[in-house]
Amino acid sequence: MPDFAAPLGANDAGCPAPIDQSRRAYAEGWAINAAHYERQGLYAQLAERLGPQPRLLDLGCGLGHGLAALRADAWIGVDENPYALAAAADRLGVSASLIQSDLLRPDPALNALGSFDAVTLWFPGTHPARVQDPVVRAHGLTEDARYVVAMQLIALRLAAVRLREGGVVQIVDRAAEDDPAVVAAAYRENLRAMAAGLPLALTEVAVIPYTEPAAGIAVGSARLDRRSRPTWAVSLLLQKGKPRRVATAG
Ligand SMILES: C[S@@+](CC[C@H](N)C(=O)[O-])C[C@H]1O[C@@H](n2cnc3c(N)ncnc32)[C@H](O)[C@@H]1O
Repeated sequence: MPDFAAPLGANDAGCPAPIDQSRRAYAEGWAINAAHYERQGLYAQLAERLGPQPRLLDLGCGLGHGLAALRADAWIGVDENPYALAAAADRLGVSASLIQSDLLRPDPALNALGSFDAVTLWFPGTHPARVQDPVVRAHGLTEDARYVVAMQLIALRLAAVRLREGGVVQIVDRAAEDDPAVVAAAYRENLRAMAAGLPLALTEVAVIPYTEPAAGIAVGSARLDRRSRPTWAVSLLLQKGKPRRVATAG
């Protein structure tokens, strides 16, 4: 397993320079967003929706802000960006539970992780040079909005396999809209469609007001235009097993 406490960039010696630079810039940019969200208490509010968990898998863990807020007895963080993972190792004071893996590619290391009580995917997104990746191009994921949906589908499928019966997957996304009820309804419908055929039932949709930083990573999503509308973090909980009533919170 790579050593994320090593100097930045040391994990991916063979990585082409443009990808390496793009990953580094993305990790630096996301640090601005994440610090802004953390100051607002957003990560703590999102962690509250999920509650304490014995064993948790955080997908696209980034710089570890989510893992720092989430309450888990044991956790594993996965990210494809070694600069993000190095920052997460610093923040969390541990590197052994951080795995570099690209969720768009099969990885036997992830299959060997066993089962989890919770799986999280908070604020999926990627660096701009990912458009050069043949897998991203082959699946038509060169637009941010499509990339985000692909990551959500991957997280749901992975959760369907890796969660224990009764375990929970939490997806968190960002939206801009005047009416939070419109946001909740749209995500409820989308997530139900995305989880169709999987043993996952939507149990809660929470829409939480927050603000984006003036700098940092802007999301090129049709649902998020921070210049003109109020912004909302949307937390979606899906449980593995029998369907229950969906609660709307926030
Ligand atoms: C916007 S950041 C969010 C980080 C963290 N979840 C948070 O809430 O602060 C998205 C993270 O997902 C990671 N990511 C994107 N695509 C990925 C993939 N295919 N496999 C693994 N990680 C990925 C990025 O490297 C980045 O660190």
